[in-house]
Amino acid sequence: MMSLDVLTVVGARPQFVKAYPVSRALRERHEETLVHTGQHYDELLSDVFFEELALPTPDYHLEVGSAPHAQQQATMMRRLDHVVAAEEPDAVLVYGDTNSTLAAALVAAKRGPAVVHVEAGLRSDNWEMPEEVNRVLTDHCADVCCAPSERAVENLRAEGITEGVSLTGDVMYDAVLAVRERAREQSKVLADLGVAPGEFVLATVHRAANTDDPDRLVEVVDGLLGVSLPVVLPAHPRTVAALHEHGLYERASACLHLCDPLGYLDFVRLVETAARVATDSGGVQKEAFYLETPCVTLRDETEWTETVNCGWNTLVGADAGEIVRALEAPFEASDHPPVYGDGDAATRVVDAVSELESGVHARP
Ligand code: UD1
Ligand code: UDP
Repeated sequence: MMSLDVLTVVGARPQFVKAYPVSRALRERHEETLVHTGQHYDELLSDVFFEELALPTPDYHLEVGSAPHAQQQATMMRRLDHVVAAEEPDAVLVYGDTNSTLAAALVAAKRGPAVVHVEAGLRSDNWEMPEEVNRVLTDHCADVCCAPSERAVENLRAEGITEGVSLTGDVMYDAVLAVRERAREQSKVLADLGVAPGEFVLATVHRAANTDDPDRLVEVVDGLLGVSLPVVLPAHPRTVAALHEHGLYERASACLHLCDPLGYLDFVRLVETAARVATDSGGVQKEAFYLETPCVTLRDETEWTETVNCGWNTLVGADAGEIVRALEAPFEASDHPPVYGDGDAATRVVDAVSELESGVHARP
């Protein structure tokens, strides 16, 4: 079997988690060059994942940092273009829907290597989300679309994308399964935070729609403050900045366990032991589902509709009353169908990459 040169581009926290199972599986059959764009640069958003998950050290670090999105993406594209020109990979592999994802997909589409998109076909149908723009355009650049669910395959078909689509399942399920036991054994986060299993709510908030809109942010904070259980909120730096900017920081930190972002093992341990999860994160909604913790989603829509349809996730938007009601409502145990695969998505992603050898997905 021919070994391919695959250039993987990551840059933001969820992509380090997704790369963890895929990179290991990929390196068994192909050559991987790893590029970190530097979209996330704080130690707790980046380095901690490389250390805990023993991710390979990036071969290139583009040190792009934060900027308005178009500028950030332009800088990424300029720097990535040199890397792609120098490495001449057979394929460029990207994850999810961040600015790093689209920047790399566009550079590859212009330079020639095949584009592999892991977590393809997700849609919120909300074009105001920067992630929706990123994921739709990336799917349309991609030669190989690795879809986590049947619904994602249908979404692609509805946009005319039928060639090169593989139903792989979700690589984040692989990641959770790979660390769950280690998190149980090694994490001391419950003792560190002084919370007991089943007796706290775990919350995360970082979506632009919530942090950049003071009306929504007030509602989210009031909703979390209204819950009778302790609420642990490991806060993304943009959320801390927004709380300060809108005069909410004192109120929030007085009553919530507001802490720094956590490493993956501690975070998985908290998801598994929380009474409820409240989040606007895509990845955290799924992790709550995998670890069978009911989730309340602080958004008006979700890409992960299956979690809602089978009763494990409730969409509440940003309404304080709805947030409290949903977090305090008794939970009726639901079925737990394997809607995102069986935890071996990384192998299927590598199978899909390997098909490039025979030219099945090659660009005309
Ligand atoms: C990005 C992704 C989002 C993903 C999230 C994961 C886009 C459009 N958004 O959002 O889809 O869910 O990552 O966490 O790509 N900042 C720091 N330190 C860092 C990085 C960022 O303080 O290491 C602050 C900066 O003030 C920056 C702000 O966070 O302006 C936003 O960063 P940005 O990279 O634009 O997007 P995220 O909100 O992190
Ligand atoms: N995560 C973490 N520590 C935290 C918050 C999240 O390790 O304090 C992990 C979480 O387990 C998931 C990923 O980060 O795997 C999700 O990233 P995020 O919510 O930032 O992005 P999204 O999934 O919304 O794109």
